[in-house]
Amino acid sequence: MANVAVIGAQWGDEGKGKIVDWLASRADMVVRFQGGHNAGHTLVVGGETYKLSLLPSGIVRGTPSVIGNGVVLDPWALKSEVERLSGQGITVTPETLRIADTCALILPFHRDLDGLREDASGAGKIGTTRRGIGPAYEDKVGRRAIRVCDLAHLDQLEPQLDRLTAHHDALRAGFGEPPIDREALKRELAEIAAFVLPFAKPVWRDLNEARARGRRILFEGAQGVLLDIDHGTYPFVTSSNTIAGTAAGGSGLGPAAVGFVLGIAKAYTTRVGSGPFPTELDDEIGERLGTRGREFGTVTGRKRRCGWFDAVLVRQSAAVSGITGIALTKLDVLDGFDEVRICSGYRLRGETLDYYPSHAADQAAVEPIYESMEGWQQSTAGARSWAELPAQAIKYIRRVEELIRCPVALVSTSPERQDTILVRDPFAD
Ligand code: IMP
Repeated sequence: MANVAVIGAQWGDEGKGKIVDWLASRADMVVRFQGGHNAGHTLVVGGETYKLSLLPSGIVRGTPSVIGNGVVLDPWALKSEVERLSGQGITVTPETLRIADTCALILPFHRDLDGLREDASGAGKIGTTRRGIGPAYEDKVGRRAIRVCDLAHLDQLEPQLDRLTAHHDALRAGFGEPPIDREALKRELAEIAAFVLPFAKPVWRDLNEARARGRRILFEGAQGVLLDIDHGTYPFVTSSNTIAGTAAGGSGLGPAAVGFVLGIAKAYTTRVGSGPFPTELDDEIGERLGTRGREFGTVTGRKRRCGWFDAVLVRQSAAVSGITGIALTKLDVLDGFDEVRICSGYRLRGETLDYYPSHAADQAAVEPIYESMEGWQQSTAGARSWAELPAQAIKYIRRVEELIRCPVALVSTSPERQDTILVRDPFAD
């Protein structure tokens, strides 16, 4: 029986929430393996809307949920998310939530540094979520992070604090900020430890045991492949690997544990934050996509940039992430256009490219080559079978499949769970 990894195939915000929720309702365990509370997943369950940032989506339905070692964990953000959910009638317990005790923590000065650096970067600004994600991953790789397991050994924290303050105090001085207040930090950590520790354990053991028993595991990716630190539009990326390969390393299972890779892609393209975006539309078509698609960020409320579907980028995402099948979302946003376009290649200084170049200047300079197709006037909203789709919409999906060289496994036609055309069930593989 296949486990399933769900990842974004564009720049995040592809509408993962609904699909993850549907798969989570059939999984025995749901695991987050990278990122942190920069993610924003919206689930609509039983008419109620839940907004999750850090917690795995299984938590809403009570499916055992795991925050894997690859996640950077802001314990205060975790506490407020748990409290918010509790206000909506969802109780999070150590039975429903387990946190890898090797997760690196996001600390208050990481958030400060994220903001200070963004404000000082002028045109070089990344447009981060200012949640401290990048600085926390830097400390993890720099071997000075405080991890969840350290919360149980606060009396042995001094060498780690020496490493942290040696690095951060110099940085903070450069920004005119006072040194880290070690005593205040220790007090804050001691306070939050009481909340976090009941959930903390070596989760790789639970996951390996679940796998040995043939339990279904759902790996829930955050952000999207184009924001991957290696394969994305560097430097305008997040600080983790968002590709499906990370599901194994970020949770403590071997690579063979990741079975079906479901890539989520919108029927058009959006992006929040800075960075290149070849098919971006600064005109009334872009406005219309944004309005019809309600393209505002879940976490920061920022307006998303919108453009036509870019098949070159999704083909590349499918290749580097080993995507088995695509879930195409928000098809109904394209209803009513006289013409729809798909980017099938790029032009760069007189040359034609069938891939996205690596250098930021080239990425910004490519011009999309479009294929134009007749649009459809009928509504696709709520369609549950191919028979309910207009012929032109089917033609559009078939052309997308050809260009990205990857089959469409499902099509989502509204935020409602039932409004889905299922071609291939990822768990049935
Ligand atoms: P960071 O992850 O906060 O460091 O932000 C780096 C880049 O990733 C920025 O362009 C953010 O807008 C983008 N980003 C981070 N998380 C998400 C997400 O969940 N959806 C979409 N974009 C995101």
